[in-house]
Formats: sequence, structure tokens, C-alpha cells
Amino acid sequence: MPTHFLFPTLVYQSPLQRTDLQVFRRKLLRDCERLRYDDKAGIKWSAKNYPGGYSSYGSLSKLHQTLPNFMELERKLRRHVNAYVQELEFDLTNRNLRMTDCWINVMPQHVAHSLHLHSLSTISGTYYLRTPKGCAGLTLEDPRLDRFMAAPPRRADCSAGMRSWCTVPAVAGNVVLFESWLRHEVPPNREASERISISFNYSWF
Ligand code: NI
Repeated sequence: MPTHFLFPTLVYQSPLQRTDLQVFRRKLLRDCERLRYDDKAGIKWSAKNYPGGYSSYGSLSKLHQTLPNFMELERKLRRHVNAYVQELEFDLTNRNLRMTDCWINVMPQHVAHSLHLHSLSTISGTYYLRTPKGCAGLTLEDPRLDRFMAAPPRRADCSAGMRSWCTVPAVAGNVVLFESWLRHEVPPNREASERISISFNYSWF
């Protein structure tokens, strides 16, 4: 073909572990369910910033430094982050890409997380703990959208990579990684049960 694909946006998705999937996930779920009731500062923060849900982003945002199961999660994520960095062809010689933040998100029915990006970070991602059937995925926005001006709409049947918004399904046990500048959102959870995930940021500076 005479045409080339340039300036790709890479998104990584993989099961966290190859075996023993349930045991580790249940351990983390127990931590989440405890914290969402015990973390008074987080409950207060969430009432203002995460209506209807619970996020530890404003109170306990460095769980990978404090709780053993989250420390283990950080270790288990390393091979995924390394694989993603290879794909991105980052030169990290003498640079230390490390996890800087790690927090919990609990989304009951109707709770949404509007469009945002993670400024001051390099790579961001999520590990899904509980994803009720039919719950919202992670919607990613084409970063060039504000330059499209007179571009016509795409055909309804265009391929996934050509769409202006792509949704990565939320699957319990899966990790999703993306570059932190990529805007994303979680549409409202329509399911009666809670959607629970752990999010994290990595930075090299
Ligand atoms: Ni986010």
C-alpha cells in the first residue's frame, strides 16, 4: 500500500497473571471493601469530587507504598509496563520509570468519571477487580480531535482504530495501560452492582 500509518497511539491490554487469577484479585477486593468504609478522608473527598462513588485518589493515593497487596500489584505490573515501554520505543537509559500513584475506584450504579487526562504522568493504567456484566469500559478519545476541522465523519462501519472514540472493555483481571496524555472517561455504570478498579500512574521524572 502506498499509504503509511504514522503517529500511532498505543494502548496495552492483558490479563495481569497467567495463573492463579482469582486469589490475588480477591485479596485486593477485600482491601478495597475495607478502605471504602474506613477511609473517612476519602469518603469526604469522594462526596465532593466523585459523586455517588468512592475513590481514594484524594486521601490514599500511594497504596503501592503502604499496603502489602498493592506492593505486590506493583511488582506484578512491572513486566506489563516493561513490555509496553518496549512497544513505545522509549529510551529509558539512566531514567527511572516508576509508579508514583496508586488508588482505588468504586463505581456504584449511575456513577461516571468524566473526560480527563493524567497530567504530570507518563503512563497511566487500570487493573480491574470487579466488572459486572455489561458495565462501562474505558473510552479513549482520539488526541487529534481538535485539529480535524473540516474532516468528514467516518463511515459507521469504519475499523476500530479509525474511530474518534474507542472503548476498551473493562474485564476483571485485566490490565490496561495508556500514555497519560490520552484523554479518557468511564461512562455511567448502568449495572446494579459495583464496578471496582485500581488505577495508577508512572512517571520518569
Ligand atoms: Ni483516568
